[in-house]
Amino acid sequence: MNVPHHIAIVMDGNGRWATRRFLPRVAGHKQGVEALRRCVTACADRGVGVLTVFAFSSENWNRPVEEVSGLMDLMVVALGREVPKLSKDGVRLHFVGERGGLSEKIVAGLVQAEAATAHNTRLVLNVCFNYGGRWDIARAAAQLVARGEPLTEINLDRAMALAHVPDPDLFIRTGGEQRLSNFLLWQGAYSELFFTDRLWPEFDEAALDEAIAAYQQRERRFGQTSSQLAGGAGRDRQAA
Ligand code: IPE
Ligand code: IPE
Ligand code: MG
Repeated sequence: MNVPHHIAIVMDGNGRWATRRFLPRVAGHKQGVEALRRCVTACADRGVGVLTVFAFSSENWNRPVEEVSGLMDLMVVALGREVPKLSKDGVRLHFVGERGGLSEKIVAGLVQAEAATAHNTRLVLNVCFNYGGRWDIARAAAQLVARGEPLTEINLDRAMALAHVPDPDLFIRTGGEQRLSNFLLWQGAYSELFFTDRLWPEFDEAALDEAIAAYQQRERRFGQTSSQLAGGAGRDRQAA
């Protein structure tokens, strides 16, 4: 079957998962790291080549300070604990987002994690952290302007933060909301969208398989007609 090469996920619902259990929101984020760990393994096992996850948005700085600092601390802990395991599993890490606003400690951790996993080839894991789709587009455009290059689609595409991977085939959002929240605005132009009410900490192998099965039912037309895809363009013309 046709497994999506690139899956992108808005990992939403950690806060609600925790609140329903009378736990602090950050406990939900901790559980979210476990769900990500599981999802990475499941994706690699199913032959997915690229997984891109939204971990912290440009707008998430607007949350209460305790939650923001809890998320930053969690990043440091997760880097220390997970990178050796991920590397052993053949995962190559990329961190995508504005590093300017992050602490030196975190930036050093990101750089180190990327270097430590640079030789891996089984799965590319892009972690979008302090990322926004608008940030990405504006930054790419600014780079081209600075280099005196024309603002063409191809040039912009090459200057974008995910230029090292093809566009996502399947875009999943957990947590019940049906919106993009500034994730992959450029790259998601032709992604198949899948929304589930399941909260991110509860996203397991079965949930991933459900999303992949839904994807496999879709017809990706990229602007063409159904019969063109079936090799029957002639039929379209006759009918017209
Ligand atoms: C997503 O879960 C994780 C981050 C935004 C960091 P939320 O924290 O948004 O969870 P809900 O939407 O409040 O349940
Ligand atoms: C999107 O979730 C960001 C991440 C999952 C990291 P949010 O919970 O921040 O999105 P909104 O605010 O509900 O749109
Ligand atoms: Mg949310």
